[in-house]
Amino acid sequence: MNIGICGLGTVGSGTFNVLTRNTALIDARAGANIRIAQVAARRINPACDTAEVPMTTDIFAVVNNPDVDVVVELIGGTTVARDLVLEAIRNGKHVVTANKALIALHGNEIFEAARQKSVMVAFEAAVAGGIPIIKTLREGLGANRIEWLAGIINGTSNFILTAMEEQGSAFADALSEAQALGYAEADPTFDIEGIDAAHKLVILASLAFGIPLQFDKVYTQGITNLDLQDLAYARELGYRIKHLGIARETEKGVEVRVHPTLIPDNSLIAEVDGVMNAVMVKGDAVGPTLFYGAGAGAEPTASAVVADIIDVARALNSAPETRVPYLAFSNASFNGTPIIAIEEVETAYYLRMSALDRPGVLSKLASIMSDRGISIEAIIQKRPLPGEDHVRLIMLTNTALERDLVAAVEAIEALDAIAGPVVRIRVEALDK
Ligand code: HSE
Repeated sequence: MNIGICGLGTVGSGTFNVLTRNTALIDARAGANIRIAQVAARRINPACDTAEVPMTTDIFAVVNNPDVDVVVELIGGTTVARDLVLEAIRNGKHVVTANKALIALHGNEIFEAARQKSVMVAFEAAVAGGIPIIKTLREGLGANRIEWLAGIINGTSNFILTAMEEQGSAFADALSEAQALGYAEADPTFDIEGIDAAHKLVILASLAFGIPLQFDKVYTQGITNLDLQDLAYARELGYRIKHLGIARETEKGVEVRVHPTLIPDNSLIAEVDGVMNAVMVKGDAVGPTLFYGAGAGAEPTASAVVADIIDVARALNSAPETRVPYLAFSNASFNGTPIIAIEEVETAYYLRMSALDRPGVLSKLASIMSDRGISIEAIIQKRPLPGEDHVRLIMLTNTALERDLVAAVEAIEALDAIAGPVVRIRVEALDK
């Protein structure tokens, strides 16, 4: 099987090096001789010994090369990459890609084109780098009805939160460090505003629940507004704050949401620090499972790219639709599961507010909550910060409808005794 690699940056060079270093064992596992027929790159990457490989600077030369069976798209972006992948499919070539934004935004179109040409599009490296979470959902957990999944799927955000929490680093310093280490996206707002995590989550939700990719319906909140004091109060209450992507099937539809989240500090995923990624999946048969590993970097991501190349070699005779369940199952009730709006989501909340220390404030807060059927789980009061005259109240609620919680927060913010906005962070127990 001849492959053509488009792009020789971080992931491209990792892929080239893993393929050339482990050729014999990869061929044995694939049951085929996998050969690099051509590589397209803007410039030679000194990390790779490409002397023996036909090189071009024209990525479209690869998709039009009659000797290439599988196009490995590692250029990133969603414009040229989309044209490249669609042209490869038109030319009857299988595609392996690490491009999460491309799949999240244009996956439905790409999979439909692939179905018509009976070619495979494989995208393991698009989510959580080296963690084989796509294969886990498609194969290893194939027997299960997936109840929910929750993941730390942006290494840069996790790196920043860990540095802020453990070293008291400033947000901007931690981000610069993540950029210098090569973890961040070309546009780091994709990392810190949750967009990269949303790209990945929409792919996982599609596989877990058999629904088409619907990026525009993902509720997305990043870490840019997180305050260090909330990381500390969460600790005090027995929680840690992680930036999670959560997808859960409910009676109303599927929740697909990305936001900072309080999770119990004794849950395994709360221990996932630095640039590492982890995804918890709860299946009805298997129960809770946890997958952990490097979510970015040259060879961890190459590990997933090469696994897909092997997978394509092995599966060449099977139906391409099996890769994307919503195409494989035309059953209307399965395809029709809606993604529910964030207002309809039920979740617990951490709230922090500044209040005048005078009689009756707590009772007003309690009535606002009870009027909306929201039960308070815990409350702590902290002395005013130096130079301030307001105390800080930190509250945990039990599970409530988002819409009711938003109304309660609006009522709290309207109280004379409350100064400024109420900080809100969702809480997930991740235990059932
Ligand atoms: N920018 C991404 C991250 C890289 O920080 O996780 C891997 O997708």
